[in-house]
Amino acid sequence: MTDRISAIDEAPQPAAAPRNSRKVFVKTYGCQMNVYDSERMTDALSKDGYEATTTLEDADLVLLNTCHIREKAAEKVYSELGRLRDMKKARARDGREFVIGVTGCVAQAEGSEILRRAPAVDLVIGPQTYHRLPDALKRAKQGERVVDTDYAIEDKFEHLPAPKKAQTRARGVAAFLTVQEGCDKFCTFCVVPYTRGSEVSRPLSQIVAEAERLVDAGVREITLLGQNVNAWHGQGDGGAPIGLGALLERLSAIEGLARIRYTTSHPRDMDEALINAHRDLPKLMPYLHLPVQSGSDRILKAMNRRHTAADYLALIERIRAVQPDLAISGDFIVGFPGETDEDFEDTMALVHKVGYAQAFSFKYSIRPGTPGAEMDGHVAEGVKSERLERLQALLFQQQTAFAAGCVGKEIDLLLEKTGRMPGQLVGRSPWLHPVNVDANGSEIGDIIRVRITGAGPNSLFAEAIG
Ligand code: 5AD
Ligand code: SF4
Repeated sequence: MTDRISAIDEAPQPAAAPRNSRKVFVKTYGCQMNVYDSERMTDALSKDGYEATTTLEDADLVLLNTCHIREKAAEKVYSELGRLRDMKKARARDGREFVIGVTGCVAQAEGSEILRRAPAVDLVIGPQTYHRLPDALKRAKQGERVVDTDYAIEDKFEHLPAPKKAQTRARGVAAFLTVQEGCDKFCTFCVVPYTRGSEVSRPLSQIVAEAERLVDAGVREITLLGQNVNAWHGQGDGGAPIGLGALLERLSAIEGLARIRYTTSHPRDMDEALINAHRDLPKLMPYLHLPVQSGSDRILKAMNRRHTAADYLALIERIRAVQPDLAISGDFIVGFPGETDEDFEDTMALVHKVGYAQAFSFKYSIRPGTPGAEMDGHVAEGVKSERLERLQALLFQQQTAFAAGCVGKEIDLLLEKTGRMPGQLVGRSPWLHPVNVDANGSEIGDIIRVRITGAGPNSLFAEAIG
């Protein structure tokens, strides 16, 4: 998980210029779904004349699009709000508008508590209601402190304006597209079912239309997003029920779309059609993020994951049987309540068996309101740290080995952005590594054939061929 500022570059305005347009600065915390939401909020505000800025000093409106998944993520928001409060005071002295909004999962979880703890905040909007942001902003400017954390009955996607083509283009050749939101799985450590609500799938036609619009604006790679993306379900031709495998097949047919990915999946929802999509669809990249969280059946049960370690391993085997080239990525939690040394060793053993290309691992963090918070046997912080260190050392070793195994391979590379060195461009390997290559006349958006010549800890190096 990375913090990312989701906004496009703008030339700074001279201070004395007439301000006929307003600027919004969005700071995005947490997962890719928040990155997508930040873009859609920016689109929603553009109707009212707001342009995105990456310079805080230029902003008339600041939105913190927040994450509640672990305690640290949530606390970051309050320290940022402290800094913004001081800025707001300085702006008030100059008589310049400065509206502060908190959106995303902390907004949903804490609602009006945020207004109490952070008096500088003007509006609090949950992830299900951000299509109402322009209206909330209008009210906030009239002096109201707005909290809107309803689970809206209307479909927010139907109420959000499509971004302008130029806006989509400025965001790059690889785009996110949320197809599913929320979760009904209720893993006992997780706040998502409470912050994002129950599972909802966007209709097929809406997704296809959005994907076509993205491709029309120059996008070549789309990552389908959902908290539980492989629980996506919809209706195919004639109203027949379909799942993510069929959706991927439909999107594969879009001319000009070169690559498709999806994240995040739950092991219970990897059905036959989705597994076979990895065999049948050349546009579907050979990368699968499939969190397991623990390798101990006792802990998996306490986590309410509803599968065993053996189920997970058998699933990986089935998927690798149809797509041997697959990079597997995972999420892990160490120090869940009741986790013993033996349980942790089971996790290490599972990692040895799978061989991960990429992984994200965390110390268990108590989330108020979740069943895990009420459980006995909370693990000491020091023990969690030791376990995390050992797990991460093993995962890093596997990640490095996977990257080293790529050296010598010839792959297609989608060029996404300029590199650090002059004349260099950076693309993504099929397995999601950033790959540096000399541009040699190629441009962003091109897909070029390259040979991988080297592997660093976080990226690959390649030379163009053919
Ligand atoms: N503590 C630590 N990690 C958590 N995750 C979710 N909830 C918690 C928690 N309470 C991790 C899981 C999940 C990822 C997105 O964040 O590994 O897959
Ligand atoms: Fe959270 Fe579990 Fe749902 Fe993932 S599947 S969002 S971990 S409750």
